[in-house]
Amino acid sequence: MQKEMKTGIIYISKHGTTEKVARIIANKLNSGKTVLINLSKDKIDDIETFDRIIIGGSIHMASIHKKTKKLCESNKSILLTKNLGLFLCCMEKSEKSIEQFENAFSEDIRKHASSSALLGYEYNFDKMNFFERALVKKISGFKESISEIDHEAIEGFVNELEKK
Ligand SMILES: Cc1cc2nc3c(=O)[nH]c(=O)nc-3n(C[C@H](O)[C@H](O)[C@H](O)COP(=O)(O)O)c2cc1C
Repeated sequence: MQKEMKTGIIYISKHGTTEKVARIIANKLNSGKTVLINLSKDKIDDIETFDRIIIGGSIHMASIHKKTKKLCESNKSILLTKNLGLFLCCMEKSEKSIEQFENAFSEDIRKHASSSALLGYEYNFDKMNFFERALVKKISGFKESISEIDHEAIEGFVNELEKK
C-alpha cells in the first residue's frame, strides 16, 4: 500500500489572520493528511515525518515572529529535504513586501521552496491592544476592521505546491 502524504502547516498568528489562512490552505489541499501546528502553543517533535511543510507567518513592525525564524534555522537541514511552502500575511505590497519576505526567510530556504506567496492581510481592531490600535490607525489610516485575504493568491499557492 502507498504511504499517505502528510503535510504540516506551521504558523504563528497574532490576531488570527494567519491562522485563518492556514485553515483555508488545509481545506484546499487535496492529498493526504494535514496537521495544523500553532507554533505559539503546540510542540513539534515530529517535523521529520512530514512529506510537505508549509510555514506561515505575519509581519508586525516589519518582522516575522522570532519563533518562526528560530524554527527555520534550527530545522534547516530537514526543511531543505521537504516539499516546502512559505507564506506571509502582511499589509505591504510591492518592494517593501519583498524586503519583508527576504528578511523573514533565509535565502537557502526561499530558494528551496516550491511555492512562496503573500496571501493578504486583515486588521482586527477588536483583537488589538490600545497601542496597536493607535499605531495601525496612524500608519494605515483605517479606523475599522478590514479583511483583505487574497483568495486568488491562496489558490495559486496551493496549486504550485501540489504540482511538485
Ligand atoms: C501593530 C501592527 C503592526 C504591523 N506592522 C506591519 C508591518 O510592519 N508591515 C506589514 O506589511 N504589515 C504590518 N501589519 C499588518 C499585519 O501583518 C496584518 O494585520 C496581518 O493580517 C496580521 O496577521 P496575524 O493576525 O496572523 O498576526 C501590522 C499589524 C499590526 C496590528
